[in-house]
Amino acid sequence: MRERDLIEEAVKARGNAYAPYSNFQGGAALLAADGRIFTGCNVENASYGLTICAERVALFKAVSEGAREFKAIAIACGAGPCAPCGACRQVLSEFAPDLLVIMTDAQGKEIRREKLSTLLPLAFGPGELAG
Ligand code: THU
Repeated sequence: MRERDLIEEAVKARGNAYAPYSNFQGGAALLAADGRIFTGCNVENASYGLTICAERVALFKAVSEGAREFKAIAIACGAGPCAPCGACRQVLSEFAPDLLVIMTDAQGKEIRREKLSTLLPLAFGPGELAG
């Protein structure tokens, strides 16, 4: 899997965003350890608080299809690369604290890479519940 392919999948998924309220379209493509790619876009709602981000759609689709380990996520949004929101960082961290996060713009041109553990230091994870 080439990084460029993952980015293109995120850009394509962004095209499906349902964002009539914010007009902010996001797309994500999550690469599972077994090579599968799960995509997501943000889905807004007239009851605003029920909106879900692109990254979580991708992650929940993946987990519901049996994937549990992930290597990288590409995120495509607006004029420049944007980082995932705090809620998405936490949800992704549950399964892949060392995930590679590839951030890009709506065209997939400008690219920024960070580890999820850098974006979410001292994450609260399953280990914290172990006592
Ligand atoms: N959004 C995402 O899809 N991902 C993020 O990480 C941040 C925000 C969406 C949610 C909402 O539909 C719109 O962007 C504006 O917040």
